[in-house]
Amino acid sequence: MALLFSDNSYRRDTIYEKLKEAMPGVDLRKFPEIGDAAEIDYAIIWYPVPGSLQNLPNLKAVFAVSAGVDGIVHDPSLPDVPLVRSVDPHLTQGMVEYVIHEVLRYHRHFHLYERQQREKIWKQRPQFKPQEKTIGLMGLGQMGRACAEMLRHLKFNVRGWSRTPKDIPGIETFCGPDQLSAFLSKTDILVNVLPLTSETRGILNRAVFDALPQGAFLINAGRGAHLNEADLLAALDSGSLAGATLDAFPVEPLPVESPFWDHPGITVTPHIASITDFAAVARNILNNIKEFEAGKPLTHTIDRVLGY
Ligand code: NDP
Ligand code: OXD
Repeated sequence: MALLFSDNSYRRDTIYEKLKEAMPGVDLRKFPEIGDAAEIDYAIIWYPVPGSLQNLPNLKAVFAVSAGVDGIVHDPSLPDVPLVRSVDPHLTQGMVEYVIHEVLRYHRHFHLYERQQREKIWKQRPQFKPQEKTIGLMGLGQMGRACAEMLRHLKFNVRGWSRTPKDIPGIETFCGPDQLSAFLSKTDILVNVLPLTSETRGILNRAVFDALPQGAFLINAGRGAHLNEADLLAALDSGSLAGATLDAFPVEPLPVESPFWDHPGITVTPHIASITDFAAVARNILNNIKEFEAGKPLTHTIDRVLGY
């Protein structure tokens, strides 16, 4: 059995070394050093080299090292074999920490105290109870549900929006486009952890910001292309939104010319909401392959039509 790693990103050598180290004894090859193409059973990808997975006659599945597969799912050169994404408890935990940190930062006004310190202003602000605030999660999958449950544990009112109906104790759930405005209407802090698909591209737009209570906050830990950037700037400038934390951008690294870097209402983080542990990803892939080779179905395959 041989595995092929294909990646076009600036991190390909580092990622390959980390995967290799975590897979001792496994024949892991790095594109373009394929060797005999007929020996490749599985591929591991981040941003695959275009066309690199074609002409692998015995390929059984492709494993993405990321949770989101928006950058690859519609690649016409992707062979017609199952595409598996990464689901890892460490990744989920990282997202929970990020979301809790930013929610508490806005809830307890730390974004304002940071500014006050720079300006040497001593001023106490009202301390709201978590029960007085509602946090809304867009996406109730691996990431969203774990964040929702931790926020609930901290006694916030928590609601979530997904594509299909959900029943999660203690969480008010909404689904589909028809229930989006009801979901938004009482959301004081909106957290986006949706996958990027044809249905969710550009979803963080003026209509959504207008449907939130005045002075709401946005935390976007999904993808940059979820956000209409001009609508965000307009909403911040008008006061309709009071602040935004952005972790993902259409072009990464975020270009130095971006107005987001200097905007007083925006916090930029460099796609670190949760950082992939490649050794854990490698172990998960090997376990999945082992079960699959023993006749069980692959876990965490994505639906190519839905895009997630
Ligand atoms: P999941 O597939 O587990 O969950 C996706 C959720 O989004 C599901 O609840 C799904 O609904 C919902 N959803 C999908 N399409 C729609 C739609 N059209 N309308 C409403 N809800 C929709 O994904 P994860 O939670 O694992 O990851 C989500 C995303 O988080 C990733 O795709 C990635 O973009 C981002 N991410 C970002 C990271 C970072 O560091 N910034 C790290 C990891 C992930 P349903 O349950 O009904 O299917
Ligand atoms: C992601 C990831 O999808 O880092 O953003 O896995």
